[in-house]
This record gives sequence, structure tokens and C-alpha cells, in this order.
Amino acid sequence: MPKIQLQNLSNKEIISNNKSKSILQDILENGIDWLHACGGKGRCTTCKMVIISGEGHLSPLSVFEQKMIKLKKLGDHERLSCQCTTDGDLVIRVAEENKMPHMSYSD
Ligand code: FES
Repeated sequence: MPKIQLQNLSNKEIISNNKSKSILQDILENGIDWLHACGGKGRCTTCKMVIISGEGHLSPLSVFEQKMIKLKKLGDHERLSCQCTTDGDLVIRVAEENKMPHMSYSD
């Protein structure tokens, strides 16, 4: 089962045990607070993750992600965690602009 490492959350590791679940669902089900203002509908970018490694394991870009790229709201190595699944190990980070004040980030 794919392992997702959250680099700037003290390298916490979670397991993605269902290929049909989004990365965001995996994160939230593991009790990790992660912004998702539009409720996972691909409309806000607050769930954005920065991909450090394993990008090739992610599902293809959704239409919402393609739109955000055109609008320059998603850059290189950035994906919407609510819009993709993984079939392999990942290392990701919380995007700087989406860090929450009550959370403690390791860098
Ligand atoms: S939660 Fe809004 S785009 Fe993912």
C-alpha cells in the first residue's frame, strides 16, 4: 500500500489503503488538519500539495486542476490533494500559503 510522507509535518507517514480515495481523504482520515475550503470540489486550491517525490504515481490531472494551471494557481510540482489518488509512495509538503496558524510545521 502506498505510503505518503508529509515532509513539513515532521515527516509524518500515512498509508493510502484505498486507490479510489483522494490524497486529501487519506490525510483527513488520519486526523491531520489540512485546508480544504471548497470541500474537495476542485474549486479553491487551499488543499494544494507540493510534490517532492513520487509525482509519477499520481492519477492524471483532473479538469479542475487543468483549469487552475491555466489560471496560474497551480505551478510545477503542485497538485490539488482533493483531485488525485496515488498508486505509489509520495513525499509531499503543505504549500506555504496554505499553512494554518494553529498548526505546528517542522519547516
Ligand atoms: S479542497 Fe478546494 S480545491 Fe481541493
